[in-house]
Amino acid sequence: MQIVTTVDSLRQVIKPLAKQGKTIGLVPTMGALHAGHGALIKESVKECDVTVVSVFLNPIQFGKNEDLDKYPKRLEADAKLAESLGADFVFAPSVAEMYPDGDPLTMVRDETLEGMYCGAYRPGHFRGVLTVVSKLFLISGCNHAYFGEKDYQQVFLIERMVKDLNFDIQIHRVKIVREDSGLALSSRNEYLTDEER
Ligand code: PAF
Repeated sequence: MQIVTTVDSLRQVIKPLAKQGKTIGLVPTMGALHAGHGALIKESVKECDVTVVSVFLNPIQFGKNEDLDKYPKRLEADAKLAESLGADFVFAPSVAEMYPDGDPLTMVRDETLEGMYCGAYRPGHFRGVLTVVSKLFLISGCNHAYFGEKDYQQVFLIERMVKDLNFDIQIHRVKIVREDSGLALSSRNEYLTDEER
């Protein structure tokens, strides 16, 4: 498995594989991988010739008072897990690599649902998600992409974006993976006290 950190180098390794007709599966993540991400990676490895796991903590989907600074980061462990599950590439770009001119001027947004449900409490969140996911689709050249049903509004908006913008990509929803207690696995669970859990 190879760790790739630039847009050009990912394109360089993926293009010849795509030319050979290999299917490319993308598993977008923000890192701190757990068994929920593992389930997405396993599905991609089972169904696609090549699996790319992106690990990018996307600043433009975090609000001012959200947890961008304290979000757990552990690229080495993430790469080990991805490799053990059969991924071929981890794409781990810096913020400067993804947004060389600062926050992008061109963004992708959903005009209706982004302000509802979870979006009502996180202004700008889904615009940041749809923008980075579009970039990751275009950079990776994937044919398949895998998202967990835990983030239900996210996967719904991504499916709709793919349809609206004619991305030639099949979106796969993967079932929620839960702790024995029943709580859905999430990188943010480590913020919870026993009582909150
Ligand atoms: O679900 C996530 O981890 C993120 O929202 C995603 C899809 C990787 C985009 O940054």
